[in-house]
Amino acid sequence: MTTFGTPLSPNATKVMLLGSGELGKEVLIALQRLGVETIAVDRYDNAPGQQVAHHARTITMSDPAQLKALVEKEKPMLVVPEIEAIATPMLEELEAAGTVRVIPTARAARLTMDREGIRRLAAETLGLPTSPYVFCDSLQELQAAIDSKIGYPNIVKPVMSSSGKGQSKIAGPDDVKKAWDYAMAGGRVSHGRVIVEGFIDFDYEITQLTVRALGADGKIETHFCEPIGHVQVSGDYVESWQPHPMREAALKKSREIAKAVTDNLGGQGVFGVELFVKGDDVWFSEVSPRPHDTGMVTMCTQVQTQFELHARAILGLPVNTALRTPGASAVIYGGVEAKGIVFDGVAEALRVPNSDIRLFGKPESFVKRRMGVALAFDPDVEVARTNAKKAAALVKPRAAS
Ligand SMILES: Nc1ncnc2c1ncn2[C@@H]1O[C@H](COP(=O)(O)OP(=O)(O)OP(=O)(O)O)[C@@H](O)[C@H]1O
Ligand SMILES: [Mg+2]
Repeated sequence: MTTFGTPLSPNATKVMLLGSGELGKEVLIALQRLGVETIAVDRYDNAPGQQVAHHARTITMSDPAQLKALVEKEKPMLVVPEIEAIATPMLEELEAAGTVRVIPTARAARLTMDREGIRRLAAETLGLPTSPYVFCDSLQELQAAIDSKIGYPNIVKPVMSSSGKGQSKIAGPDDVKKAWDYAMAGGRVSHGRVIVEGFIDFDYEITQLTVRALGADGKIETHFCEPIGHVQVSGDYVESWQPHPMREAALKKSREIAKAVTDNLGGQGVFGVELFVKGDDVWFSEVSPRPHDTGMVTMCTQVQTQFELHARAILGLPVNTALRTPGASAVIYGGVEAKGIVFDGVAEALRVPNSDIRLFGKPESFVKRRMGVALAFDPDVEVARTNAKKAAALVKPRAAS
């Protein structure tokens, strides 16, 4: 039996989010609705999730000492990573000492923190199909890996980066140095290691949201959401839709891969398994042991959004992954570099049929920063895509005058 306390009382059920961006904000709202006391942690003040939590804390989450001090002070029942750049070895220490439970597990947070841990697990330990790859520590090693194994075209990515930062496609020998320099400038931590991957000429890519939740018998059950299709520009998601039509064999393979990876990572919660599909062939790309940015579409398509699914699964509650309606999401970028921006056209956007929007409330805008998302549903997923993009384009962020 799961017992819930009262927030802000001695018996409160306390949950700490490490990272409080737009995805964390929605998880926090889902937790709030279940009467959970929430602590939103981020590296800067007034992060989106901090605006809706009981408590806001600002620390450097990659600093083990700061992380340990905060967890020991707040004593949450669960620590829920929302981002990758966290001192995950410290989370493993705290979990091993029985101080806190990490979602889904501290090991999963560590393995998915950089591209190497998860890629070696998927390809070498689990034997799942992936693009061919080599890890390199210098321009010379990169060139040698391309010449001996990977060939052209290929993709180079810093091992520690997300949203396409530092990532580029190499068409031929002339691009190698440029890609190396770009990766060095764009990595999250400048330790100069990259992965070079053979380019997969896929028909489409999907996110297979996979939920590990407790069944009535107290055992873990794996649930699958309908596949989410998406478009990435320079490695960053710009639109997504659900369901993405798939041939039965490809869907079956996708779910087998998702099951193998999530079984190994363990714990409870939502996972976003990224897969490339060509005909009936499926390749594993990567996995987030948490809700996925392309899964924002579930805010208009599913009975329970991916955020509600995550909140329920981590608390030991049952989940429902059913689709309510086909739908789509389209990103609203900042378009300007400014603090405290304003948004015109919100009412116009909401006049698009069956649309909705979320403005994340980020204190500072960058040209390519995701500031909001437009949603639209329709029985025809293509109509939903058109309408989500239309609504997103009607929202006009600008610097306050
Ligand atoms: N080997 C590959 N072959 C073809 N396309 C690829 C390959 N690797 C990456 N891509 C494309 O680049 C996108 C981003 O790559 P990846 O997911 O590895 O980077 P990321 O920075 O972690 O992105 P995000 O954090 O947004 O998921 C993929 O969704 C896909 O569209
Ligand atoms: Mg990705």
